[in-house]
Amino acid sequence: MDHFAYRNGRLCAEEVPLSGIASEVGTPFYCYSTATLERHYHAFEEAFHGQKASICYAVKANSNIAVIATLARLGAGADVVSGGEMKRALAAGVAPGRIIFSGVGKTRDEISAAMQASIFQINVESEPELEVLNEVAEARGVAAPTSLRVNPDVDANTHRKITTGKGENKFGVDINRVPELYARAAAMPGIDVKGLAVHIGSQLEELGPFGAAFAKLRELTEVLRGQGLDVERLDLGGGLGIPYAPGDKIPTPAQYAGLVKEELGGLGCELTLEPGRVIVGNAGVMVCSVIYVKESAARTFVVVDAAMNDLIRPALYNSDHAIVPLEEPYAGDQTSNADVVGPICESGDTFAVQVPLPPLAAGDMIALRTAGAYGSVMSSTYNSRPLIPEVMVRGDGFSVVRERIGVDDMLARESLPGWLDDG
Ligand code: LLP
Repeated sequence: MDHFAYRNGRLCAEEVPLSGIASEVGTPFYCYSTATLERHYHAFEEAFHGQKASICYAVKANSNIAVIATLARLGAGADVVSGGEMKRALAAGVAPGRIIFSGVGKTRDEISAAMQASIFQINVESEPELEVLNEVAEARGVAAPTSLRVNPDVDANTHRKITTGKGENKFGVDINRVPELYARAAAMPGIDVKGLAVHIGSQLEELGPFGAAFAKLRELTEVLRGQGLDVERLDLGGGLGIPYAPGDKIPTPAQYAGLVKEELGGLGCELTLEPGRVIVGNAGVMVCSVIYVKESAARTFVVVDAAMNDLIRPALYNSDHAIVPLEEPYAGDQTSNADVVGPICESGDTFAVQVPLPPLAAGDMIALRTAGAYGSVMSSTYNSRPLIPEVMVRGDGFSVVRERIGVDDMLARESLPGWLDDG
């Protein structure tokens, strides 16, 4: 459930017509709904009620500081994967003691910054990284709170580009090597080893793979404890999917939390969850305008002013984002099939193929739904296109939370080398 619906024939975010926002900021733009963010956060939190679990929102899904701050005020911590995301989390008011730093390639500088900020936990993904972390922490005279990310070799059964828990994926430490490395970590002066972490992929549409990974984590915890090692914390990552199309059947947060309890409940560990998409995905839409409706022999193309640089998910993962007009279609309106495409010079710049749409003409506006997660954060300036604004709605008000970053801003950062500069 989200808070994007028609009111008096106009598609609104909460109480604000999206067409009203468009006339103020222009198209295309992203729009986020505070009430939807709150609803999804609460649903997730309530699902874990009664378990010793802390929610660290995966900032990568949507790192606008207004989004992070909205969630931080509800009690969320943050899962970050770069020095930049850590800065954002701190700027948005997340307490350092609620920040987890994950990722396969943390640099020495990033590790130092994390130590400097005294964050809650670093998730280590390899032996060389463990050594660097030990060195950096020792040099600062501290012991880094560390968990080892395990690669459980479990197939998440999701798109191959967002599968992270198979042996051939670059993530985590091979599960068979963990006991040895964990024991090494426990003996290092710069490491305060806390526990284990796992994240097997994103947009999981069934619970089975989570169950398989959690069972392996439980077994591993018991093995480590059997060796006399402490395992206080388990970080379960993110990954729970969301419906993109109306008929999609996805396990609920409550079912997911039930599985966690069943598999890991008896261990007495402190749990961390790192949900991203399930919190922000349906809390955002991308609004764009129709530039042309082009009839070719084979197809009707609706050419819009947003493109793959603004929302790359369809091009990268073949994802379907439902497309709805800002003006509510009349009940009797005939739909006809069309492709919705952007202006970029690649055939991959296609948002939807042969989808039924009501009659559309140049100047009409449409929204691509479920664009709150991995939308704006993955945008680029390809084809020298501006980075589009982000707007946040709350009740009957809205605020531009990132302005458009235009071509003049880009040009201001470029220069000619002396030999080309004629003065
Ligand atoms: N924790 C870790 C360590 C992660 O790598 C990720 C996502 C998450 C948590 C959050 O996962 P979520 O709950 O959002 O599934 N760009 C892709 C998704 C990439 C996910 C990367 N890691 C997409 O648009 O589908």
